[in-house]
Amino acid sequence: MSTIFSGIQPSGSLTIGNYLGALSRFPKMQDDNQCYFCIVDEHAITVPQDRLKLRNEIRSLAALYLSVGIDPERSTLFIQSEVPAHTQMAWILQCVAYVGELERMTQYKDKSAGKDGVSAGLLTYPPLMAADILLYSTTMVPVGEDQKQHIELTRNLAERFNRQHNDILTVPEPHIPEQGARIMSLQDPTSKMSKSDDNHKATIFMLDEPKQIEKKIKSAVTDSEGVVEYKPDDKPGISNLLNIYAGFSGESVADISEKYAGKGYGEFKQDLAQVVIDGLEPIQKRYYELYESEELDDILDQGADHANRVANKMLMKAKKAMGIGRVH
Ligand code: TYM
Repeated sequence: MSTIFSGIQPSGSLTIGNYLGALSRFPKMQDDNQCYFCIVDEHAITVPQDRLKLRNEIRSLAALYLSVGIDPERSTLFIQSEVPAHTQMAWILQCVAYVGELERMTQYKDKSAGKDGVSAGLLTYPPLMAADILLYSTTMVPVGEDQKQHIELTRNLAERFNRQHNDILTVPEPHIPEQGARIMSLQDPTSKMSKSDDNHKATIFMLDEPKQIEKKIKSAVTDSEGVVEYKPDDKPGISNLLNIYAGFSGESVADISEKYAGKGYGEFKQDLAQVVIDGLEPIQKRYYELYESEELDDILDQGADHANRVANKMLMKAKKAMGIGRVH
């Protein structure tokens, strides 16, 4: 049995990148592992957010976790800011991390490039992520490709803490899927599909309506060859669409390419839109039932209770190992 931890930021509607890279893989993991799934609202405020919108996004993300099949009887679902040990442990890990290694993080470089008034929180984002993971003695972290570097840093921080203080932290492994680890923008298939892309045609959101999905897939950038084949370097557009098809249908990219041999992009795109619509429809239906329900609050209360108990124990150990506070 592994201990699994993963988090998603409530900073905008989730995309099918979030779904295929992370969320869709979580339900299966509940069968024989101890799972923690977190709404990382404190990570979201490293960049400016609208207060009311953020509050809605937190609730929306909780409902989405449950809609894809997270079962609160088997997993702990909670909001990061409702478990204060996360920021406390993050401080401890900031004192273990070096400024240089934080400045080297690709996400920090991308998000701060050319901006004035970059928050200190954007730089210390990875020690908070490390705190999320390490408080629960996590062994496995299911994420998309873009988070690999943060997990690598988490591993380094855990090893450094263990060496310098006391051997109490478990060093986690990333768990990155073979397919769907990096879903690309529909308009620029050389860059990642992102919640915050200004061009809405580039991104399919999990709550998009069938008509929008169809339209976005129809206008997705491909190439002029008209041959459905998987060549990520030469044909990034159609290869990305093949990945999306595979992620939603469960078929392999090879089988799908064979199925569309000799057929044009039009037919392939039409079918892909249907596969995505069919995959999202039951999730969307459950989502709208859950969003307003009181049940959602009960689940989040229970999740926070459990997470607080587990996290506080590790925080105590870490404080003791560092010599801060009094020994009880
Ligand atoms: P976030 O909120 O940006 O994304 C949530 C998850 O979705 C994956 N993902 C993608 N996968 C494939 N293709 C894409 N285009 C794509 N875009 C996003 C991400 O890799 C991630 O798994 N720092 C994290 C949140 C976090 C976390 C944690 C994750 C905070 N604490 C502890 C794991 C463990 C983030 O910003 O993810």
